[in-house]
Amino acid sequence: MDYLQIEGGNRLSGSVRISGAKNAALPLIASSILAKNPISISNLPNVKDIQTLLRLLDNLGASYSLDGNRVDIDTSTIDSTTAVYDIVRTMRASILVLGPLLSRFGHCEVSLPGGCAIGQRPIDLHLKALKQMGAQISIRSGYVVAQAPSGLKGSTIIFDKVTVTGTENIVMAAALARGKTTIVNAAKEPEVVQLCEVLNRSGVQIEGIGSDELVIHGSDGELLPMEDIEVIPDRIEAGTYLCAGAITGSKITLREVIPQHLEAVLLKLMQMGFPLQSDDSSITIEPAKRIEPVEIVTSEYPGFPTDMQAQFMSLALLAEGTSIIEERLFENRFMHVSELRRFGADIQLKGNIATIIGPTKLFGADVMATDLRASSALVLAGLAAQGTTNVHRIYHLDRGYEKIEEKLGALGAKIKRMRE
Ligand code: UD1
Repeated sequence: MDYLQIEGGNRLSGSVRISGAKNAALPLIASSILAKNPISISNLPNVKDIQTLLRLLDNLGASYSLDGNRVDIDTSTIDSTTAVYDIVRTMRASILVLGPLLSRFGHCEVSLPGGCAIGQRPIDLHLKALKQMGAQISIRSGYVVAQAPSGLKGSTIIFDKVTVTGTENIVMAAALARGKTTIVNAAKEPEVVQLCEVLNRSGVQIEGIGSDELVIHGSDGELLPMEDIEVIPDRIEAGTYLCAGAITGSKITLREVIPQHLEAVLLKLMQMGFPLQSDDSSITIEPAKRIEPVEIVTSEYPGFPTDMQAQFMSLALLAEGTSIIEERLFENRFMHVSELRRFGADIQLKGNIATIIGPTKLFGADVMATDLRASSALVLAGLAAQGTTNVHRIYHLDRGYEKIEEKLGALGAKIKRMRE
């Protein structure tokens, strides 16, 4: 197993190109199931989760060719509608094939994703919405068995909670359904917006894109003429590199980003005292004269993203005072706290609220990654800590960060991938 070895305490400099967004690419790849024609997706991040979904499509009988950051996918040859446990268990987002498979084939079997390190993460809202669209759903031998022999029909779905992949699944299901589907309390994340825009360009009329109420006019079973797609930049990778600049007291520039997607993150960095400059596609961060403590509550977009919570906790360790972070989306997303304590962090946990008492002098340590974003928080702490840090179990990191050691290395960090 690989691990990352970091010699902390170095300043970074220069610029880094931000990769395509994993969480945008996943639903876009799943949407290829709805396509009449082979499609090409570019600016794809070369990360494990993307390979997993492509492997799942391959297992269904689709073919693809991956060339660097571009994939050509042909789903006309799909001859199975079973998303198998062995693949789904490695990535919960595999559930994104449920909506498109069901709407195209009228039946499918998708392994029920289990819990994960950050909480239970049920899919009840996905299933309830599909039932409302006429699907019969049962759970058999660990699989969601879904049937809609006469196709899905449009309906009004009111989500009890805002769900990102739930909204994406229903948007894709509704794209081939009969009639109009209204989604109330839809997710507004930029990744959801890109999926809607792509389907819209493929002839599916969608109203309310970017709002919390979407109206999708289905094609009544007609497959979609889809154009080539370029994945939007990864706002979470971008936020993570901003934190890398911040935590090392460096001036660095991010290239090929969409600053508007990062407003909540940029606001918190500014409140913490970091000067920021941005134009259409780049952001530059400079060292703070004094790092101010921060109060953060995670919420749905455009609020502060839960996927940036762990990284800001690392940064808050250096703040001159007490910071408070409240996690509102996932019940168990503080797994990094005990690992951060190994660097010397003073963090108190009470339910879903973490109190971080800064500033702390951090010392390098052996730490264990527990989930994707928690792993990047440990890398950030390692960059700021005095001495050597080894971050173990980085397969979590490889799920979502493209070439992280190369990118940080090019910025001047002392970081190496090693074998246990
Ligand atoms: C997506 C992102 C993930 C991010 C999360 C929240 C992808 C591939 N992943 O995950 O990186 O952290 O959004 O921004 O895009 N819920 C239910 N029942 C359901 C579905 C969700 O109770 O059927 C709850 C969840 O437990 C959670 C909340 O709703 O408390 C939001 O989860 P959701 O938006 O669905 O997260 P994902 O789409 O899985």
